[in-house]
Amino acid sequence: MARKYLIEGGVRLHGEITIRGAKNAVTKEMVAAMLAPGVSTLRNVPDIGDVDITRRVLESIGCRAVHDAAAGTLTIDASNLNGPEVPAEYSGLNRIPILMAGALIHRFGKAVIPMMGGCDIGARPVDFHLQGFERLGATVEYRDGAYHFSADRLVGTRITLPFPSVGATENLMMAAVLARGTTEIRNAAVEPEIVDLALLLQSMGAIISQETDRTWIIQGVDALTPFDHRVLNDRIEAASFAAAAIATRGDVLIRGADQLHLLTFLNWLRRAGGEFAIQADGIRFRGKDSHLKSVAAETGVHPGLMTDWQQPLVILLTQASGMSVIHETVYENRFGYTEALGRMGANIQLFSECLGGSDCRFRHLGHKHSAVILGPTPLHGAEIEIPDLRAGFSYMVAAALAKGRTTLSGVRYIERGYDRIVEKFGALGLPIQVVEE
Ligand code: EPU
Repeated sequence: MARKYLIEGGVRLHGEITIRGAKNAVTKEMVAAMLAPGVSTLRNVPDIGDVDITRRVLESIGCRAVHDAAAGTLTIDASNLNGPEVPAEYSGLNRIPILMAGALIHRFGKAVIPMMGGCDIGARPVDFHLQGFERLGATVEYRDGAYHFSADRLVGTRITLPFPSVGATENLMMAAVLARGTTEIRNAAVEPEIVDLALLLQSMGAIISQETDRTWIIQGVDALTPFDHRVLNDRIEAASFAAAAIATRGDVLIRGADQLHLLTFLNWLRRAGGEFAIQADGIRFRGKDSHLKSVAAETGVHPGLMTDWQQPLVILLTQASGMSVIHETVYENRFGYTEALGRMGANIQLFSECLGGSDCRFRHLGHKHSAVILGPTPLHGAEIEIPDLRAGFSYMVAAALAKGRTTLSGVRYIERGYDRIVEKFGALGLPIQVVEE
């Protein structure tokens, strides 16, 4: 049954919410449980569709997983895996199965992983993952819709990633912890979610260090033990609600918003005229006192402006005076959602040139990866089909800002990645009518 949200806009968000564990950490940490027989526990687990999808994938290969959504705990018993193959029915649901390759190779000498899914925001190949496994001594073949990996035991090596990919870094890190010898992953991703994964692996008995130049050094060990770990808070959820508070000229305390992990976002917010105050228990965002003005920014890997902060920022900039420019350098196709914002009254134009920053790897390839936003523009309600998770949230903010009713369909994308979204917007004074059709 398809769900829709009906939203009556023109609301200033007001009140407080609490951030939960990060979507882009928890699902990888669930996979890490496979590295050790026994029962591992995750805490601060968000109540999102991606946790549920990943739980089902883990169960399909023999793990027993119990999620107490109210308590935010998840236990995974990985004592008995039933084989090296992730069933084909789990292809296309999210980007997690490929991250299971290392653990399955360690346990069975092989892994069979169906094609990947996730939001449609670019080509999203997995070549860095596959090349990394080959460097670690695995044989990798693609046949019958699945990647087939095999190796008696992975062997430590030096890997230099062509781009600091989050998923490839996590995958190779989880593969290297039980490899024979030492692995260096150079030009690696260093996002806080990856550091959180490294901390979890260390608690299991891994030996991992981080150099200052995007290099992870992992000294393989023979066995790991289960973990009990608290997932770090979601910095995307925090920034998304922060942008919503400011754009709607509201006043919202975001408990659990972590200044350290929001450092770059907060700088951009302040440059755009957004007001906030750091408090002991979170950050208070004061849209009422904000005088929004245009900025020129580009997304980038950590510690740059996250690509997942781009959409909330764009919505906010539709309410800023002047011409803003955003250059997307992580994904080639992450502005598709702006077409619907145009139908709501936003003035956004896309360009294939690298605007507002340095040239990026998409230069001359024809992808519309720069956006020019002219503001401020009043928005009005519309009927919108959600194309991906982060776009979905920004439509919710646009709907809150808009005059009249907005109908959002395809809300499963939002529910995949945002904890109790209807409840949280409701607590901030934006009632959302959920319709099942
Ligand atoms: N890339 C390759 N080859 C590879 C791997 C990546 O060319 O083998 C390219 C991608 O096509 C992309 C860039 O490298 O252009 C970065 O991709 P990355 O591997 O870093 O992304 P990911 O691991 O697939 C995660 C998050 C994304 C987030 C990015 C960047 C998860 C499940 N997803 O994706 O989050 O945008 O890192 O920080 O952790 C989201 O949450 O909505 C989302 C898309």
